[in-house]
Amino acid sequence: MSVLFYRRAADAPPSEVVGLPPGLVLRSWRPAVDGPPRRRAGLWRNLAWFAFQRAGLFASGDFEALSIWRGERMLHRMVVTPRWLRFPFMAEGDLQLGGLWTDPEVRRLGLASLSIAEAHRRHAAPGRRFWYVVEEANLASVALAKTCGYHLIGTGRRTRPLGLAALGQFRLESAAIPATPRAGGDLSESVDSQIS
Ligand SMILES: CC(C)(COP(=O)(O)OP(=O)(O)OC[C@H]1O[C@@H](n2cnc3c(N)ncnc32)[C@H](O)[C@@H]1OP(=O)(O)O)[C@@H](O)C(=O)NCCC(=O)NCCS
Repeated sequence: MSVLFYRRAADAPPSEVVGLPPGLVLRSWRPAVDGPPRRRAGLWRNLAWFAFQRAGLFASGDFEALSIWRGERMLHRMVVTPRWLRFPFMAEGDLQLGGLWTDPEVRRLGLASLSIAEAHRRHAAPGRRFWYVVEEANLASVALAKTCGYHLIGTGRRTRPLGLAALGQFRLESAAIPATPRAGGDLSESVDSQIS
């Protein structure tokens, strides 16, 4: 399955952060600050993120899970991930938006774009770029990335050592714009130098 690598430029204009619709609440969990997860929703997934954070696998303490709730029902979730072994194409200070999911009953109401704008606002830093990696066939997600100001950088794939995607890496293999890899350099570095 081909994977598309989108990126938001460091100097992109700030996203407009609109208020949450009435009755909805935005929740944040940052393992580096908040400690172990306490909510039952997504507990195993968040325990894994917590373990990765504690093991020092992330390049920074910026990992954050954002979610939108109505009462006790989660309507949307997303994670903000620093560079780590799954995303070797990122620069040290970059962040990746992933794991997006919106409850099918409330799709196309702006919840994903709202949480993405909120992530941009919370994690803005000089020179920082945000990445968005998506399977080519996921047309809704591709459209979302473009709507949120992301531009196609290149294509690649997810490796599956021992057949396990969880152990794999997202590899950026070909640039959507002309790129001349440096001798011995990695492709993402040469793409960076061409568009920055
Ligand atoms: C992708 C997903 C997270 C979008 O969530 P959402 O809350 O419905 O997204 P939003 O309402 O914020 O959409 C913002 C924009 O993205 C684009 N978009 C979102 N869903 C779309 C769809 N099904 N078809 C076309 N464009 C779409 C549109 O431009 C939309 O703006 P518009 O509604 O004003 O036209 C949701 O469809 C989902 O959970 N899909 C299943 C899980 C998944 O694929 N996650 C992404 C993994 S990379």
